[in-house]
Amino acid sequence: MISLCGLAVCPLNLSDYGNKFLMMACATIPCHVRASFSADVPSLPADPTSHKLPRQRQCSIPSSFSIEAHNLSFNISRHNKFVPILKNCSLQVPPGQLWMLLGPNGCGKSTLLKILAGVLHPSDGTVNVNRPNSFVFQNPDHQVVMPTVEADVAFGLGKFSLGSDEVRCRVAKALEAVGMIEYLQSPVQTLSGGQKQRVAIAGALAEACKVLLLDELTTFLDENDQMGVINAVKKCVRGPEQVAALWVTHRLEELKYADGAVYMEDGRVIMQGDIASVSHFLNRTCKFYI
Ligand SMILES: Nc1ncnc2c1ncn2[C@@H]1O[C@H](COP(=O)(O)OP(=O)(O)OP(=O)(O)O)[C@@H](O)[C@H]1O
Ligand SMILES: [Mg+2]
Repeated sequence: MISLCGLAVCPLNLSDYGNKFLMMACATIPCHVRASFSADVPSLPADPTSHKLPRQRQCSIPSSFSIEAHNLSFNISRHNKFVPILKNCSLQVPPGQLWMLLGPNGCGKSTLLKILAGVLHPSDGTVNVNRPNSFVFQNPDHQVVMPTVEADVAFGLGKFSLGSDEVRCRVAKALEAVGMIEYLQSPVQTLSGGQKQRVAIAGALAEACKVLLLDELTTFLDENDQMGVINAVKKCVRGPEQVAALWVTHRLEELKYADGAVYMEDGRVIMQGDIASVSHFLNRTCKFYI
């Protein structure tokens, strides 16, 4: 054990990583999950005959959106065949809003989220996502890994040169924001799935994240935990920091908590807009299966 600004954390080099979740991916995520990261699946160029791998283009023009993507494509090679996974996807999410990302299994939601998080590089297109941003996975056991809630939320702060008072203050504020302050000293293995998700979100908030990219946080949660996580995210986006959140879900009842939604099918963005318009579209086209 070593101490991070007075908080007990596990023996890891805290100075040389940029993202707790990526580091945890290497340390804790089973091989089948890790296989979806960029190191294992390089994207192919838009032109399959070209041998040059493309670089992700970060748009440098200031934008009024917290999340912005234009004409993103992502291609892979499967059995020596060129397979397009994302096709010309564009979307925008303003600051201080929660948007849902919807679509049937395999349509490319998680792939799009990973590109927005910088975990995967697109084959083509432009990405502009405010930093710092954080990607929270479906399974909280892959990311809430420290012995106590306090240590887990403090973990990501190791890369900043912060005094112990500042660390404690940030940890407390982040846990307040997600309604978990009374669990400060609790061992993480005693938490429910929803409580772990809220601790994972607190970790991102403690790092002053401007954007939360959330992949099916509530799939395995009961109604109580589901509402706890939704309320925690809503509180973040309504707060003074104007955090923007993009939330992948299959649970259509969660739409009513969002400010807007993006609907995908077969690697394409089919529809995006306010909740009334997207709900109307889904009802009209009988998209009940997502
Ligand atoms: N590492 C990978 N290697 C090969 N194909 C992949 C990989 N990751 C994703 N895919 C393929 O890309 C497509 C989109 O997958 P993705 O996980 O983004 O879908 P999704 O919309 O998140 O689905 P779900 O709702 O089931 O989570 C699928 O056809 C999937 O098989
Ligand atoms: Mg997915």
